[in-house]
Amino acid sequence: MRMYDIILKKRRGEELKTAEINFFVEGYTKGGIQDYQASALLMAIFFQKMNKRETSDLTMAMVRSGDQLNLNKINGVKVDKHSTGGVGDSVSLVLAPMVAACGVPVAKMSGRGLGHTGGTIDKLEAFKGFSVDLSEKQFIKNVNEIGIALAAQTGKLVPADKKLYALRDVTATVDNMSLIASSIMSKKIASGADAIVLDVKVGDGAFMKTFEDAKALAEEMVSIGKNVGRDTVAVISDMDQPLGFAIGNSLEVIEAINTLKGNGPKDLMELVLTLGSNMLILGKKVENEEEGRKLLLQVIKDGSALEKLRSFVKAQGGDVSYIDNTELFPKAKYKIEVKAKKAGVISKIHAEAVGIIAMQLGAGRETQESSIDLCVGIIFNRKRGDKVNKEEILAIVYANNEEKGNLAAENLLNEIIISNSYEEKIPIIYGVIK
Ligand code: URA
Repeated sequence: MRMYDIILKKRRGEELKTAEINFFVEGYTKGGIQDYQASALLMAIFFQKMNKRETSDLTMAMVRSGDQLNLNKINGVKVDKHSTGGVGDSVSLVLAPMVAACGVPVAKMSGRGLGHTGGTIDKLEAFKGFSVDLSEKQFIKNVNEIGIALAAQTGKLVPADKKLYALRDVTATVDNMSLIASSIMSKKIASGADAIVLDVKVGDGAFMKTFEDAKALAEEMVSIGKNVGRDTVAVISDMDQPLGFAIGNSLEVIEAINTLKGNGPKDLMELVLTLGSNMLILGKKVENEEEGRKLLLQVIKDGSALEKLRSFVKAQGGDVSYIDNTELFPKAKYKIEVKAKKAGVISKIHAEAVGIIAMQLGAGRETQESSIDLCVGIIFNRKRGDKVNKEEILAIVYANNEEKGNLAAENLLNEIIISNSYEEKIPIIYGVIK
């Protein structure tokens, strides 16, 4: 088999055989196939696309490129959740303890933030002492004993994705449906979950800018999951404005703690209930969404979800006194108010631009090697559809560098659009693909 022939075949729009896809993924991971040929094939796939069978084959070839976690020693159906990436997305911090408190084991692999989107591991490290450095044995023990554990994805899991993602990033081939779907699903499948709930974001701050694209991606991933025997459900949710009110690592953790105490933002809560009830269905805990929602609201009300967060943070070395007193989280030096220049109604908050502003403040990474500042970020006081008066505080920028903070506040004002009226009805949940 020659890589040249595989590239030519895809360039002509023909369907690749399983053996050809395996040859490419194996050869590229091991170093026998060079970047220039892999780039050419990625571009051919970008233009000619892959069908569902080819995408499933690509996914499974990537899964086989490295280690696969065996979670059989964990009792019950293991359900994982994955978001395609958003701004202010603290869902996992709220959802994981809630689902665990309902009795469905949560064995979660998470990533760090990159670009304008955040990552759960960075956020959890806002708890002093928290570590994701667990051995496989300890990880399994924690899930069996307290119902929840979270680990960082190691480099040994899906090395093919690591190499291919880096190559896609520099060859303008990231935003292809089959390449995104196989990248996400290979990591979830290799992480050993029995069932997967996906949060596919749509809008300004998401990879998928339109509902049609988000739906196609959701369908593609659900189909891959089913093809390989993992029950998969995708929730399509709004990322046209940041989720909740907080953006930034410790700011989002505080928002998550408040949500578990029963004081969560409406949009965050609605998304958590939709994803959570689907996780409980897949985990065979409830029959339908309505039952799931009831149970999830119950574990907030009786404090057991907050208690689960406490056990989880403690088991991974974190200081749990931060949960009772969120004032203990380190504070940014400067708080800069962003005030409305005119009265009206907020018609848009550009999520991607806001994510970039937060990243430039230090809340996120521009490259994988950048370090982050856990206490900086943005808290919104108002969101899309809210009426505002002139000079009203729209948001507060938290910064540790005054100059950066002032620049962020100035830029943020340009990303919050105030109009005379606002008629659009953007839902929090667009739909659920099963
Ligand atoms: N997230 C991933 O893990 N991979 C992609 O290709 C896009 C988003």
